[in-house]
Amino acid sequence: MERALYGPDGFYRREHPEAHFRTSVHASPLFARALAGLLEEVDARLGRPDRLDVVDMGAGCGALLTGIREAVPPDVARRLRAVAVEVEPRGGREGVVWATEPPEGITGLVVANEWLDNVPLDIVEYTPDGPRLMLVDAEGHERPGPAPAEPDLAWLERWWPDRTGRAEIGRSRDEAWSWLVGRLDAGVAVAVDYSHDVETRRPTLAGYRYGMAVWPVPDGSCDVTAHVALDSCAVPGLETVLTTQREALRVLGVDGRRPPRELAFSDPRGYVTALSRAGEAAELTDPGGLGGFGWLMQAKGPVSLERFEGGGGAPRDPGPSRDTLEGS
Ligand SMILES: C[S@@+](CC[C@H](N)C(=O)[O-])C[C@H]1O[C@@H](n2cnc3c(N)ncnc32)[C@H](O)[C@@H]1O
Repeated sequence: MERALYGPDGFYRREHPEAHFRTSVHASPLFARALAGLLEEVDARLGRPDRLDVVDMGAGCGALLTGIREAVPPDVARRLRAVAVEVEPRGGREGVVWATEPPEGITGLVVANEWLDNVPLDIVEYTPDGPRLMLVDAEGHERPGPAPAEPDLAWLERWWPDRTGRAEIGRSRDEAWSWLVGRLDAGVAVAVDYSHDVETRRPTLAGYRYGMAVWPVPDGSCDVTAHVALDSCAVPGLETVLTTQREALRVLGVDGRRPPRELAFSDPRGYVTALSRAGEAAELTDPGGLGGFGWLMQAKGPVSLERFEGGGGAPRDPGPSRDTLEGS
């Protein structure tokens, strides 16, 4: 998976991998605006520091940072350091610094939208001889390999209760998230992803090419992804909220309700704008789609996630597939 996605000919080394998926960032500018609101809140809590960071981990084309920069007031924009972290930095976005690693000492907001589901993981199959790591070649042929190492067994014991069929070992994602949060000095880190929790775990490995589900052959020709055990990712000892995108965006003011009909008569143009915004908001908050994504929020320093607490509990598993270009 590592080589297939990030090796020299890997899927994410290609010129336009975003032609293959559609995330909340591409679904609507309301997503960036909502995160800009969160950034402003963090900024106020941090006492408006001279340098306010917004770091987008796995930034793709960088559109989220541009959207955030455009949405914040000039005073915030002036102090903003916007860092897009990508395996293949793209450049070419005003006011955005590209990097291959997140900076140390981040003060502000870290966002990882659909990053963790692309962090490679190992898969285990429970065979009559016990759990075995699955080996796969570039044609997609699979066979059972060695027994998992002790730390993987411990992870499965704690986080994947079903001891039949296959399990996806989320330890690599836990470590990736912990590494990222380790770079945050003060502020909020948010991971947004397809997720499941200990109650809803199930194997989810999938491949996508141009938005269509394909067999996840690790040859660099398709995206390879698996849902994220966001509950296991949470770094212990930090203020933490695990909620759904629907609930988090509701708190941040994204509202999918249609505008009042009377507006159509008093301000037809305003009505059309409000209607299309409501449609986009409805897509971002649809519990069966993007709204069912998990939001893992963790805070450090003088910030608070209180506003997000008690909002809808654990994320719903939004089904078997990455949101496709067809919007399934
Ligand atoms: C599904 S895309 C999401 C892109 C973007 N966040 C969005 O919402 O449109 C995942 C991105 O994470 C990037 N990525 C994965 N591992 C990375 C790493 N270790 N460092 C930097 N980028 C990484 C991939 O190259 C890919 O562009």
